[in-house]
Amino acid sequence: MLAGKHIVLGVTGGIAAYKSAELVRLLVKEGAHVRVIMTQHAQEFITPLTLQTLSGNPVATETFSLTQESEIGHIRLADTADAILIAPATANIIAKLAHGLADDLLSTVLLATTAPVLIAPAMNVHMYAHPMVQENMRKLASVGYGFVEPSEGFLACGYEGKGRLADPEAIVEELRATLTKKDMRHERIIVTAGPNAEPIDPVRFITNRSTGKMGFAMAKVAWRRGAEVTLVSGPTSLDPPRGVRFHSVRTALEMQKAILEAYPTATMIVSAAAVADYRPAHVAPQKIKKMGGNFSVELTRNPDILGELASQKGNRLHVGFATETEHVLENAVRKLRNKNLDMIVANDVTQEGAGFAHDTNIVTIIDRTERMETLPLMSKDEVAHAVYDRLLAMKAGNGE
Ligand code: PMT
Repeated sequence: MLAGKHIVLGVTGGIAAYKSAELVRLLVKEGAHVRVIMTQHAQEFITPLTLQTLSGNPVATETFSLTQESEIGHIRLADTADAILIAPATANIIAKLAHGLADDLLSTVLLATTAPVLIAPAMNVHMYAHPMVQENMRKLASVGYGFVEPSEGFLACGYEGKGRLADPEAIVEELRATLTKKDMRHERIIVTAGPNAEPIDPVRFITNRSTGKMGFAMAKVAWRRGAEVTLVSGPTSLDPPRGVRFHSVRTALEMQKAILEAYPTATMIVSAAAVADYRPAHVAPQKIKKMGGNFSVELTRNPDILGELASQKGNRLHVGFATETEHVLENAVRKLRNKNLDMIVANDVTQEGAGFAHDTNIVTIIDRTERMETLPLMSKDEVAHAVYDRLLAMKAGNGE
């Protein structure tokens, strides 16, 4: 996503300036070309040499330096940027931008650029809450500037509250979203992910090998593309993606309940969860003790969540996933028909790099006309983009 992008990182004078080193490292790791601009006060907290070494590019600090201007050129910085990130952003740079001031290199570049600008404020808790700072941020947000909210916690100034620079990973994720086309901003989408854990007794359950990676990628990419996302997930070890409404569930019945709550206002449902088809018919209230001989658990059917929604579908798009180990396409088409889906994404989990737990997948996308397209090995994020591209094309074809 960030590979090959030209990112200008503006660093302003606050104690969180030291975290800009980690930001530069993360951006460079993703393959971005990073040019850093430091204000005079930022250089009191971290040296240009550190950021120059990490970014592999000269750091710009002065507007009227002949050497810097010939090496970089402030208008060229403004023109070539795919995005500008200000992290940390002080109350001062926010105020200058909100009032159109250009009295140093960073503020000048910010007025000269047409690239999207993302601002990650970091300051004392009272400064952040100050009505003028809040007013300036509202003003900037209203004309399209993006913000990554500071987090709450212990601040270097000794106070506790909101004002800490957001986590660098969260800032980079917001930057990815900033650079992604917002072609799903009219969608309200439910994504399901992960396995279910169906209890046998208080200490045992039945589950499957889903890790949630595919569903989380579907949720994350939809959010980056501007959708409002509700992610309903069974137990996983993953952190919920930024920006999504997250429901953590265990059983298929809990998953169904969470889906039904969000469904009336949804425009799409993408079900990547490996929903448990069966659950123990009786859950023992106490731990079951070992006995001689065999032991069996009677299973009862869980509802077919996606299948049961077919009758109330209306204009919504329904997308299923199918994990198969044999007769992959025939089985997937049968599910597409039985559940009245608009699309099914089949993965043959016997293929190396496909299905459970991998960061990659190999899928065949089958649409409601049963047209099939097999995609090569790609990351689960790329699979998510491919699925949404085809769903949006399907909607456009319907005149929706
Ligand atoms: O989580 P990962 O480790 O990244 O792995 C991803 C994955 C392999 C789990 C995922 O890509 C995938 O294939 N998910 C579907 C798993 C599956 O086996 O689905 P199914 O064939 O049982 O069901 C077909 C569809 O109906 C699915 O969309 C499923 O969510 C839904 N379903 C199934 C059963 C049920 N009772 N209710 C349902 O809604």
